[in-house]
Amino acid sequence: MPSLTATQLLSLSVLLMSTTMSNSMPIHIQWEELFERQASNCYPLSLDQAKQLPGWGKLEQYAKDTWGEGGWNIVTNPEDFRDRPANACIEVARVPLQWSQQPQCSKSTAEIQGKSVGTTTKVAFDIEQGTEAKTSLSVTRSSSITNTVSFNIGFSLPGGLDAGVDTSFSTTLTNEQSKTTENTSGKINKQHYEFDNEDGKQCKMTVETSDCAATAVGRVPVVAKGFVWFNYEDRRAPKADPNGGEHYKYSASIEEVLNEAERTSWIDVQGPVNTVTKANYETNCVKAGAGKKAAPKKKGGEKEKEGGKKPSSGASAPPKKGEPNAPEPKGKDPKKPGPKAPAAKPKPARK
Ligand SMILES: *[C@@H]1O[C@H](CO)[C@@H](O)[C@H](O)[C@H]1NC(C)=O
Repeated sequence: MPSLTATQLLSLSVLLMSTTMSNSMPIHIQWEELFERQASNCYPLSLDQAKQLPGWGKLEQYAKDTWGEGGWNIVTNPEDFRDRPANACIEVARVPLQWSQQPQCSKSTAEIQGKSVGTTTKVAFDIEQGTEAKTSLSVTRSSSITNTVSFNIGFSLPGGLDAGVDTSFSTTLTNEQSKTTENTSGKINKQHYEFDNEDGKQCKMTVETSDCAATAVGRVPVVAKGFVWFNYEDRRAPKADPNGGEHYKYSASIEEVLNEAERTSWIDVQGPVNTVTKANYETNCVKAGAGKKAAPKKKGGEKEKEGGKKPSSGASAPPKKGEPNAPEPKGKDPKKPGPKAPAAKPKPARK
């Protein structure tokens, strides 16, 4: 075996160290995450509800095949076997929605003139920008294996909306026919811009609004878990073990006898999704303060003043004080060799 160099040894020890660390610290976090994920909503499953399971017949047949026919009393959640209950659980954290009606979008554009600020030559704008998605979901079919329970659940919208919408949200859903729940995700903010008025140029902003309407559908699985008890009128041994111990009461595991589909009863939801996206760009505007201080003009920066469209950060952060609204020319970075590409090349406000 070749001997290890000092560097190799060092990296080996670093590797070992990081392994040890990842074994101790993050596991703690993982447990917490697991716990959150496992915070499922489970509700006691009554016999009548169990009988609504798609696979109920199969479960009964399993009991007959395993312990035989004859008089029996079927129960769930018996007092004398609390360690073998039956539940209906909503375990998914997020349900993906689908379009039953594809998004229909329309666009409109509005020009906004700036307001003079006091007696100065400044011009100011208060403009809305951002994206908002409003979703209203109604229960079109409730699950038959649980009561009128309410629980928190996440939904995610499919693609196709005319904007970079925040496509997931959470809401309180109630297992009740026609019950509606709403959520608004994303946000439209008012943004304040200030520019210097330059002689002979009219600084203005254009706001583009895009509205989309669609209909979404989704299914929330409610899954049965645990045991169903078959209490026979007479003591008996299992059919497979005729000489084995005799009992009155036998329990069948729902998870072991039924597959996922056979023990799932869905909550179906459907409803409208409406999104509004507002983006803006400026024309002929000079960033406040840029002219007066005779700030050194970069070559690329000249382009801004030619009256071309210049994006002003669609739904992103507001321009910071003292920084041009347009992206900084890349060539300014002393670490990077100056790129040939013109700096303040207008980017589209939205993709
Ligand atoms: C809407 O969804 C967001 C994001 O998941 C959540 O923080 C908020 O509480 C929800 N609002 C309502 C009213 O459920």
